[in-house]
Amino acid sequence: MKVLLLGGGGREHALGWKLAQTASELICAPGNPGLASIASRLVDVDITDPERVTSLARSTGVDLVVIGPEAPLAAGVADSLRLAGCAVFGPNKAAARLESSKAYAKSIMRRAGVPTAAAWTFDNASDALAHLTEHPGPYVVKADGLAAGKGVLVTTDRNAAISWADDCFSGRFGSAGANVVIEEFLEGDEVSVFAICSNGRSVGLQPARDHKRLLDGDAGPNTGGMGAFSPVLDLPDELVEWTLGEVVAPVLETLAADGVEYAGFLYVGLMLTGNGPRVLEFNCRLGDPETEAIMPLLTSDLTHVLHEAASGGTPHPLTWSDDVAVDVVLAAPGYPDNPQKGSAISGIDSIDPSSALVFHAGTAHADGDLVTAGGRVLNVVGIGATHAEARSAAYGAVDQIHFDGMQYRTDIAGGTR
Ligand code: AMP
Ligand code: GLY
Repeated sequence: MKVLLLGGGGREHALGWKLAQTASELICAPGNPGLASIASRLVDVDITDPERVTSLARSTGVDLVVIGPEAPLAAGVADSLRLAGCAVFGPNKAAARLESSKAYAKSIMRRAGVPTAAAWTFDNASDALAHLTEHPGPYVVKADGLAAGKGVLVTTDRNAAISWADDCFSGRFGSAGANVVIEEFLEGDEVSVFAICSNGRSVGLQPARDHKRLLDGDAGPNTGGMGAFSPVLDLPDELVEWTLGEVVAPVLETLAADGVEYAGFLYVGLMLTGNGPRVLEFNCRLGDPETEAIMPLLTSDLTHVLHEAASGGTPHPLTWSDDVAVDVVLAAPGYPDNPQKGSAISGIDSIDPSSALVFHAGTAHADGDLVTAGGRVLNVVGIGATHAEARSAAYGAVDQIHFDGMQYRTDIAGGTR
């Protein structure tokens, strides 16, 4: 099975690492220096360009295309590949609106009867201002479109909420902020549940917990994610089954009623409230950094599973090891607002691969050296029999890596539940 994997972040390095265990050949576009060591080749192509990706899939004769990030999905890359007869794992543009428009996701959830926070959508600052003035906090204000996890503000400060909405309308997030969604505030622990969907059916992956705030103790701004772990111990019984039955199935049915098929990963971000689980968001892809924590635990043949699903089959149940994985993200100084790039990275080669894996996210080669090239630079994943063992494997490996201004949280999987 020859596979083309689109993307070049930590999620894709982890996916590629897993796919390469059973694929006969792995081609990555654009990939990253970590994927370079496991792929037969990297192709530097604009992965949001449907025509270029489709001609790459054709010219390489791959059996399966796996789409990692949201941008190609929102750009209609899967549509173009499907039209050309390629087996592709990742939803079409219409279905990817579940992620690319929070207002659309809310409208589908409402129709599907999925439990979620109440929400109001605005297309101008004065209506948003009136809403925020009339309602008590805390406030949840979101840019409608794709903003790399940075378009959401949760605050008790009404003025900050009003400024955030104003900033969205004034172009801080480009066209992603043309509409603003204001939500009811929900309280609880969060968990990421994932499904593989195809043929109107779904199977669950093992849930993971992401640490979204920059600093220890969940302080500081929201980021794309500073670390993750799996399994998560403090979940309600049968949470995955509940999510498949009460969230994923009705959403797939509602999409199907509109003539929209869904083949790909569906990420269900849940808040576990005192009134039961509520959906915070959908993503049409796996989570990053959650993927880095769950791929090392998957014992099924991922290439086969995704190929079957991409070919219209009903997804197969997956199997998992009993181990625990803890992923610590090493971020560049200035992340998330203004990450500095270009610092030399040292120490990765001294890590014992039997205790920790290193997945590249924002790295590049410059004059033969490995350097930082993004906000989230590396994911260091410790594996162990318990959460404590996996944590100490991860942090033991982190201690061996260095780049200037490296920042990371010291409490990933800390209060382990
Ligand atoms: P989202 O990208 O929509 O998942 O939002 C990013 C983060 O903001 C979530 O992971 C939560 O931590 C927080 N958040 C989003 N929506 C709400 C809400 N309705 N109530 C409380 N926190 C929220
Ligand atoms: N870890 C959050 C996300 O991937 O959206």
